[in-house]
Amino acid sequence: MKISMIVAYGKNWEIGLNNQMLWHISEDFKNFKTITSGHHILMGRKTFESIGKPLPNRTSIVLSNSGFEHEGVHTFNDVQKAFDFARQAGEEELFIIGGANIYETLFPYVDKMYLSEVDYEGEADAYLKEIDFSSWDLAEQKDYEAVTLYDEVKSPAWKFKVWVKKD
Ligand SMILES: NC(=O)c1ccc[n+]([C@@H]2O[C@H](COP(=O)([O-])OP(=O)(O)OC[C@H]3O[C@@H](n4cnc5c(N)ncnc54)[C@H](OP(=O)(O)O)[C@@H]3O)[C@@H](O)[C@H]2O)c1
Repeated sequence: MKISMIVAYGKNWEIGLNNQMLWHISEDFKNFKTITSGHHILMGRKTFESIGKPLPNRTSIVLSNSGFEHEGVHTFNDVQKAFDFARQAGEEELFIIGGANIYETLFPYVDKMYLSEVDYEGEADAYLKEIDFSSWDLAEQKDYEAVTLYDEVKSPAWKFKVWVKKD
């Protein structure tokens, strides 16, 4: 089973504030939905609470040590047990979807990264650990313009990049 991570981050590696996202980019949300649909998605308890419900057409796995439970969600207190659960269900690509704590802990297991680099700088309390891209190959890139309405930026520009770990 391949382990992938999907994340959107700002210019200073910021990913969240007050357990919320920092921007609303509808094209990025659509992209996230397309990429993760039909797969197991693995997240920390705080990210699940920020989303609030299991995402449709995906199997939600939540990591928690505090006894968290929620209908429609599979909770584990052990990373390997969570991986085994997905593997035994026949998953071929498991997606790590956040947040900061989970990205950092599980980064050594990641084979493929789907990154949205957002042209945004601002206050945050959740960050991605800086990635050293020297051990990764860029497999795909698409650049998106900012969305403006009456000269006001409604959503920032962003670059979508797929990186595959070098052998
Ligand atoms: N920009 C993006 O793409 C993106 C994506 C996702 C999330 N985010 C943002 O990230 C922020 C949340 O990140 P966060 O770091 O605060 O929280 P988090 O990683 O979502 O969740 C942390 C929680 O996960 C559980 N956990 C972590 N490691 C574990 C392990 N090894 N075994 C068992 N349980 C484990 C613990 O839950 P218990 O306390 O229950 O034990 C821990 O408190 C929010 O602001 C959110 O909006 C951004």
